[in-house]
Amino acid sequence: MTRGFRAYMDGKLTLAPLENPKKILEIGAGSGAWVIQAAETYPDAEVVAVDVSDLPPRPFPSNVRFVKHNVIEPLPFEPETFDVIHMRALLIHLPDVRKHLAHFATRVRPGGYLIVEEISLFTSKTTPPTPQSAVYRKAWGAFVDHMHNNGQQTELGNLPDQLLRDMGDVWESVEGRTLEVPFNPLSDDPNLNILGKSLRTSLMRAIMAEQIPERVALGLTPQLQEEYARDHDSSDPASTTIVPVRLYWAKKA
Ligand SMILES: C[S@@+](CC[C@H](N)C(=O)[O-])C[C@H]1O[C@@H](n2cnc3c(N)ncnc32)[C@H](O)[C@@H]1O
Repeated sequence: MTRGFRAYMDGKLTLAPLENPKKILEIGAGSGAWVIQAAETYPDAEVVAVDVSDLPPRPFPSNVRFVKHNVIEPLPFEPETFDVIHMRALLIHLPDVRKHLAHFATRVRPGGYLIVEEISLFTSKTTPPTPQSAVYRKAWGAFVDHMHNNGQQTELGNLPDQLLRDMGDVWESVEGRTLEVPFNPLSDDPNLNILGKSLRTSLMRAIMAEQIPERVALGLTPQLQEEYARDHDSSDPASTTIVPVRLYWAKKA
């Protein structure tokens, strides 16, 4: 997924106007791809990766440090520690999004940035509705219902711009953009098409990943997984799925 975001951002780490940050934190670092890019972009910075799961075994630059931590608990860093805190596809996983976001904000130094990027699985649309889109909706419906039943605030996590603005004068400014990302290469913007392809592949992996009994009970059956896998690679431009992606950053007052 990071490859797609990177292509969309013309190879940049973020659209936020960073000024030579010295301490960078990524929460929910996943594959570690973003922290590697951050460490290479800012070789003088200390880059901290936090995740509840271990990072995959891959080489990391020497200025990357991993801290295994569940961010439902307070972050193990002093207030105003970081010039930049970044998260992508994390908020939808958290049980009390507003509370956690408010806590993360305390770890940003004045003038620093909190960067939040989210994929709105819930509000995807298709043009026009087709059998393929029905399979997409069914599969993601069950996946998201399962997250919801686990107490994850998927709908709220989808809306980082609104959540950041709701925090009021914590921030000097909140900026960013919402993209409408097509799974099929329909956009005039080739970079948006690369992001779409990368999202399509990542979301496919998520749907195919595991057969969790609760998800199967909610309708994400092995049969639906198979249908999803079959239809998902369709390059029929008439039946694309469009997923909103929100890229926002807030500057600390
Ligand atoms: C959908 S993945 C996104 C990974 C990466 N940011 C990316 O864009 O590819 C969400 C990540 O957040 C981590 N995560 C979810 N809940 C967490 C929590 N409570 N504390 C720390 N990490 C968490 C997961 O382990 C996973 O690596």
